[in-house]
Amino acid sequence: MFAGSVVSYPDRGHWGKSSYRGNCTGRIIKDFLESYMKRKDGLVVDPSIGGGTSVDVAREMGLRFVGTDLHQGFNLLTDDLASYIGEMAHVCWWHPPYAGMLKYSGEEWGEPNKWDMSRMNFQDFTEALELAVMNIHDAVERGGVYGILMGNMRAKGTYYNLSSLVERIAPGRLIDEVIKVQHNCKSDSSSYKGNFVRIAHEKLLVFAKRESSLFLIGSMEKRAAAMTGITWKAAVRRVLQGNKILHLKDINDALEPYAKSRDNQHWQAKVRQVLQDERYFVRLKPGVYQLAA
Ligand SMILES: C[S@@+](CC[C@H](N)C(=O)[O-])C[C@H]1O[C@@H](n2cnc3c(N)ncnc32)[C@H](O)[C@@H]1O
Repeated sequence: MFAGSVVSYPDRGHWGKSSYRGNCTGRIIKDFLESYMKRKDGLVVDPSIGGGTSVDVAREMGLRFVGTDLHQGFNLLTDDLASYIGEMAHVCWWHPPYAGMLKYSGEEWGEPNKWDMSRMNFQDFTEALELAVMNIHDAVERGGVYGILMGNMRAKGTYYNLSSLVERIAPGRLIDEVIKVQHNCKSDSSSYKGNFVRIAHEKLLVFAKRESSLFLIGSMEKRAAAMTGITWKAAVRRVLQGNKILHLKDINDALEPYAKSRDNQHWQAKVRQVLQDERYFVRLKPGVYQLAA
């Protein structure tokens, strides 16, 4: 259980594959679960298990657990997490890749994969992050929480505050922020030329689910209010996740409360414009769309 808001685990422990690059210590997952699980029989979910750290922690703690990853065929950017797990998660743990730092597909596993968030440029990564966080939020039950462990990074002298980005876009209510001191990371030796301060921490942001509804049903007004940090493209992609084939009218209906929160009178034109992006959307026939494979 977390004793305070700064944690340090010099020894990563025995959970998961220690050679999986960018893995995290099981100690933080154990503390997270001990701190936020309210029901012993609640389902624990990790949509990006990497080298299986959370898998081992959950097994050792005797918890009900569903873990997957892009390397297992599950894609947080096109699949609907709630439908995949088949029930709502009590607690969700997510340790995303950081754009451009370590590449997973094509290096740690399989062939290069266009949905692999570690291979994206910063702009695509930002949108993917929005989409993934909405997907996770929607898969958590009312009263449940999700924790996102995120590091910040510096590239060519610019500091990218990814944890702050997560905080801005997550639809849940932020309930805790835990600073994790980093040990033995690559940047200790390599990336510190110049006058910059060495980044030696990651942040675990913990959010409580705000309400019980999925994106397409229920209290949309509240949901829209929570979504003000999200881009239009991410919102349209979220509506189509989980192999949905939808008419423009249904897409617009789902987005209407969001549009109200944006105060954009021409939002339907904006939705049509977003749907032109062939990297993400396929027009099956006039006015009917699905996500690109
Ligand atoms: C930082 S690693 C997780 C490491 C893990 N916590 C561990 O201790 O081994 C991030 C993971 O996200 C996965 N990933 C990348 N893009 C994804 C996507 N679109 N959907 C699901 N997982 C994805 C990568 O394959 C990688 O395993």
